[in-house]
Amino acid sequence: MIHTGRHFLQIPGPTNVPDRILRAMDQPVIDHRGPEFAELGLEVLGGLRDVFQTKGHVIVYPSSGTGACEAALVNTLSAGDRVIIFETGQFSNAWRQIGERLGLDVDYVPGNWRRGASAAELERRLSSDRSHAVKAVVVVHNETSTGVTSRIPEVRRVMSGLRHPALLIVDAISSLACIDYRMDEWEVDVTVCGSQKGLMVPPGLGFNTVSEKALLANKNAKLARSYWDWQQMLNQNEAGFFPFTPATNLLFALREALKMMREEGLANIFRRHARHAEATRAAVRAWGLEIVCEEPLEYSNSMTAIFTPDGHDADRLRKIILENLDMSLGAGLGKLAGKVFRVGHLGSFNDLMLAGTLSGIEMGLRLAGVPHREGGVMAALNVLAPAQKIEPAKAAR
Ligand SMILES: Cc1ncc(COP(=O)(O)O)c(C=O)c1O
Repeated sequence: MIHTGRHFLQIPGPTNVPDRILRAMDQPVIDHRGPEFAELGLEVLGGLRDVFQTKGHVIVYPSSGTGACEAALVNTLSAGDRVIIFETGQFSNAWRQIGERLGLDVDYVPGNWRRGASAAELERRLSSDRSHAVKAVVVVHNETSTGVTSRIPEVRRVMSGLRHPALLIVDAISSLACIDYRMDEWEVDVTVCGSQKGLMVPPGLGFNTVSEKALLANKNAKLARSYWDWQQMLNQNEAGFFPFTPATNLLFALREALKMMREEGLANIFRRHARHAEATRAAVRAWGLEIVCEEPLEYSNSMTAIFTPDGHDADRLRKIILENLDMSLGAGLGKLAGKVFRVGHLGSFNDLMLAGTLSGIEMGLRLAGVPHREGGVMAALNVLAPAQKIEPAKAAR
């Protein structure tokens, strides 16, 4: 089938890259050891600090998010170290796998994939750890396979309350620049992120932001590392350079993205994502479908995972939507495969894009014969544009 107009890329990342950012990338490569590059390097490293809400160190790798996950562990831990990881979904499973492959002693706290990390469970485990065998606690802030956002301040409160010295490592890959994330205020030691979601940049950059405590742990961490080593990065970063060839044109993109984020303001970015998430949930409820996240305090503002009714394959629905309407939605991952579809409402996004996305889903539900109630799109529009929000006199101007 020939499709006209723009493809709708509504997976929970990689996200739509704004034209401004695409144009910023479309430049000749520059000498990564020259003065022009140093300016670029310093500008993006400084700008990233604001987005992570940290005064700490920022490391940028030419890698996907998974590379940055591995970097966080190899830079702070030694073989056999005990690490608590909360099972929140497919991406916490990936953390477990990386940790085990690296020879860490992973204490994987079971979860039902419908809730975030349990502060009460962490308290139980850490309070019995009198010898401080646990060296790190890993939490996926926004679990992209389920649309559940863990409450990091509660995790930190437990650790601080017990004066437990473990490092707090947080995966903010699908929350940064979408959902409020405060690295310093929450005393996170290492934050892991990637370029392809809230930051609106194509895939290919991985980030670690690093607290002073994590830097201290780095001095004693014995896991083997070479390419991922923070120290060589930090040494060169001081002058805006990188030890190895950086992804220059992705850094051009990132510089433009940081400019766009400054123009909009972080608080407005978070409000926008919250509003679009609320409108999406209003549509899901009106359709009579079920949201995967079962704790309203943990609803994700960057994406929503939705169950299809029993006996109706979510992948068939996605296929029908792709073939007929040219929209990509996220697949159910791991044990949710075929049961769930995921809607990304993050990054470069606006009201009409959301209205189009939800219209595409409602049309797809009809085409696929998935039982649902009508009116989901209308319920979302009522959230986006409550009647008489703009006074008639102002509207006419
Ligand atoms: C929460 C989370 N962690 C880790 C990853 C892995 O990142 P990547 O696929 O860029 O390696 C993803 C990717 O979507 C993610 O959403």
